[in-house]
Amino acid sequence: MAQVKMVGVVGAGQMGAGIAQLVAAANLQVLMSDVDSVALARGMRTIASSLARFVKKGTLAQVIGMHFMNPPPLMQLVEIVRGPATADEVFGTIKNLAERLGKTVTCSRDFPGFIVNRILMPMINEAFYALMEGIGSPQDIDVGMKLGTNQPMGPLTLADFIGLDTCLSIMNVLHKGLGDSKYRPCPLLIQYVDAGWHGRKSGRGVYSYNSSLAWLYDWDVKIFALHRLYHGVKAPIFIILKDANTTIMGIFL
Ligand SMILES: NC(=O)c1ccc[n+]([C@@H]2O[C@H](COP(=O)([O-])OP(=O)(O)OC[C@H]3O[C@@H](n4cnc5c(N)ncnc54)[C@H](O)[C@@H]3O)[C@@H](O)[C@H]2O)c1
Repeated sequence: MAQVKMVGVVGAGQMGAGIAQLVAAANLQVLMSDVDSVALARGMRTIASSLARFVKKGTLAQVIGMHFMNPPPLMQLVEIVRGPATADEVFGTIKNLAERLGKTVTCSRDFPGFIVNRILMPMINEAFYALMEGIGSPQDIDVGMKLGTNQPMGPLTLADFIGLDTCLSIMNVLHKGLGDSKYRPCPLLIQYVDAGWHGRKSGRGVYSYNSSLAWLYDWDVKIFALHRLYHGVKAPIFIILKDANTTIMGIFL
């Protein structure tokens, strides 16, 4: 079976930079591109500190989909998407690659949203309808779904992590691709995206995040906060940022 030696990543945002780091850490060469040079530089900065790799252009032998989850280095699943013409050999090569990256693989046919987004995004969209119709506050909707259905976080919190622009674009893909009105994006979601409320990455989504600290939510930054007590008085919080490559820096707030 052919062994993958180089991976091309198109887009250097949340997903692209994460996938590039994951792949580079598995000792594969990575070519990452982006239409926006600022985004590319930001993506490179995120991973460049210790994952510099030589990159070269390659050719695509055959197209097959790998759908990573966010954040790619942490999430267990990769959906492999097979088209009707995808050869078993190509599927085997890509499955082998995903397993080398430490992932569990599921296989989906090439339909809009594959499996995970086909089920997840309508739930998130419905949470926006519930919010728009005043059925509950964001907190009520999130806590209700988190504790009531045993999910690690509620759908609106998750939408802010994913990016509301990304959620809207996936709903549009489902709506257009499947042609069923049940996938129409919620007007409130459209309104938030039009307002530039793209979630954590922009500092504002369903919830507000201090925009000067929005970058702290990047997937590769783990935050450890220590309260210091001086003579019984709580001192400023000391935050240690530890990225995946153990670079540590301290900030006093
Ligand atoms: N965010 C998630 O949770 C998540 C999870 C799985 C898959 N995805 C998918 O990954 C993709 C990227 O999402 P993201 O969250 O990283 O978004 P993002 O906004 O963080 O980054 C997208 C990047 O792609 C670049 N770009 C746009 N058009 C391009 C083009 N034609 N060529 C090269 N670069 C281009 C943009 O400049 C931007 O830097 C989307 O298709 C999304 O559906 C996202």
